[in-house]
Amino acid sequence: MATTLITGGTVVSATGRAAADVLVDGETIRAVLEPGSPLLGTDVAASVDRVIDASGKYVIPGGIDAHTHMQLPFGGTEASDTFETGTRAAAWGGTTSIIDFAVQTYGQKIQDGLAAWHEKAAGNCAIDYGFHQIVGDVNDESLAAMRKLPDEGISSFKLFMAYPGVFYSDDAQILKAMQVSRDTGMLTMMHAENGPAIDVLAQQLVDQGNTDPYYHGIARAWEMEEEATHRAIMLAKLTGAPLYVVHVSAKQAVEQLAWARDKGQNVYGETCPQYLYLSLEDQLGASSEKWGHFEGAKWVCSTPLRSREEGHQHSMWQALRTNDLQMVSTDHCPFCMKDQKELGMGDFRKIPNGIGSIEHRMDLMYQGVVTGEITLERWVELTSTTPARMFGLYGQKGVIQPGADADIVVYDPNGHTSIGLDKTHHMNMDYSAWEGYEIDGHVDTVLSRGKVVVDDNAYLGTKGDGRFLKRGLSTYLI
Ligand code: URP
Ligand code: ZN
Ligand code: ZN
Ligand code: ZN
Repeated sequence: MATTLITGGTVVSATGRAAADVLVDGETIRAVLEPGSPLLGTDVAASVDRVIDASGKYVIPGGIDAHTHMQLPFGGTEASDTFETGTRAAAWGGTTSIIDFAVQTYGQKIQDGLAAWHEKAAGNCAIDYGFHQIVGDVNDESLAAMRKLPDEGISSFKLFMAYPGVFYSDDAQILKAMQVSRDTGMLTMMHAENGPAIDVLAQQLVDQGNTDPYYHGIARAWEMEEEATHRAIMLAKLTGAPLYVVHVSAKQAVEQLAWARDKGQNVYGETCPQYLYLSLEDQLGASSEKWGHFEGAKWVCSTPLRSREEGHQHSMWQALRTNDLQMVSTDHCPFCMKDQKELGMGDFRKIPNGIGSIEHRMDLMYQGVVTGEITLERWVELTSTTPARMFGLYGQKGVIQPGADADIVVYDPNGHTSIGLDKTHHMNMDYSAWEGYEIDGHVDTVLSRGKVVVDDNAYLGTKGDGRFLKRGLSTYLI
C-alpha cells in the first residue's frame, strides 16, 4: 500500500500542538517528523507516493463518534441512515470511526441482536466501526450473555431508564446489570430519564390537547433527567460499576455528575452538539409555512433540547471546559420528515426520536474553538482522544503517533463550511437539523487507515473498507 507524507501542517493532539510532518506507510503512521525532515532513518524515504500539503492547516486524529444509531428500529420505523450512507457522511465530516449500538430487543437473545447488527454493518462501512450493546431485556439469560461480550470486542453496554415497554429497565434490572459491569470492567452507559413519570406527564399533555412537538420538551422535564442521573449514580456507587451517562442535556444532570466525580466515583458523561447549540424555544417551538408547529419535529430527540432561558447550553459548554463532561458524540439517529417524523403529527409521543449530525460534529465543535468556548487541544480531546480512551481504542485510534492507524484529518482554519440540505449534506435525511449554520473552518482531507477517503470536496471512500473494531476495556477509568 502507498506511503503518504503530510507536510507543513500543525499537528494537534489533546495535549499540545507542533509543526510536524506525518509519514504514513500503508495503513499506519510510520513517523511524526521535524518539519522538512528528509525522512532520515526511514527506508521509505525514496518512495513516498503522495505528498499532502497541509501548510497553514491543522493535522488531527480522525474523529471518533462513539454514539450512533444506524438503521435503528424506533417508533414503528427505522433510522434513515444505513451503515453505508451514515459512515460515508461521517467520513465527509472528518469522522473516521463510529461506535454504533447493537440492539437486544425485549424477548430477544443478546447474541441474536448482536449477530443481526454485525450483518447490517459488515461489508457496508466506509470507515471502521465498533459496537456497544443495548440491553433491552435484562434477565438471567442476558446477564450471563453480557459476561461474554468483552470477548467479542464489546466493552460497554447501554441501559435505558426511559422508554417503558421498549428498552426500559427498572432499578432491580439496572442493579443486576451493573453488577456484571463491576465484575467484567465493562462500562455501563445510561440513558438517564425517568421514563414512567415522563409517560404520565406526556399523556396528560396530550389529553389537554397539547400535541405539538414543543410539548415533547415539556413532558421530558429536566427534573426527570436530574433524578434519573442521580439514581444511576447511586446504583453505580452501590455496585461499584463504572458509569457513563449518554446525551446529557440538563445543567442539573451535570451537577449530579460533578458531585459524584468530586467524591472520586468513576462517573463520566457526554453531551452532543444539539445540546450546545439548539434549544426548546428556537427549535422544538419553531413553526414554518410548510409544517406549521410540526416544524419542531425535526428536533425531537431524547433527552430533549433544553430551554435557553434556563441556561443549559451555556452549562454544557462550561462542563466541557471543566471536564465535568468528557466527550462529545452525536447520538446520530436520523429520521426524514416525510413518512417518519410525520408519524407523530397530532401526537408528539409518536414522533420517532432522533437528530442526524454525524457529518457535522467535527465542524460544529471546531466552531467552539473559533468562538472561544474550548481550546484547539480540547477539540481534539473531546472528539477523538477521549472517545478512544473511554472505549478501549486508544493507541490504535485517537492519536497521531508511530504505530497508530493512519486515521487523519487535515483541517483548514481558513476554509469555510456552509451547512444546509443543498450544500454540505450527505446524510440520508430530507432536511438538515443544522440548516444555515456557518463554520469558520473546513475538513479538507480525510485518511482512513492510510487511504484518502475525502480530498478537496471529492469522496474517494469505498463501502466495505471499514473494519469491525474489537475494542478492549476502557483505559480512561480510574
Ligand atoms: O432521541 C434519541 N436519542 N434517539 C436515539 C435513541 C437514544 O435514546 O439514544
Ligand atoms: Zn438514549
Ligand atoms: Zn442514542
Ligand atoms: Zn478547504
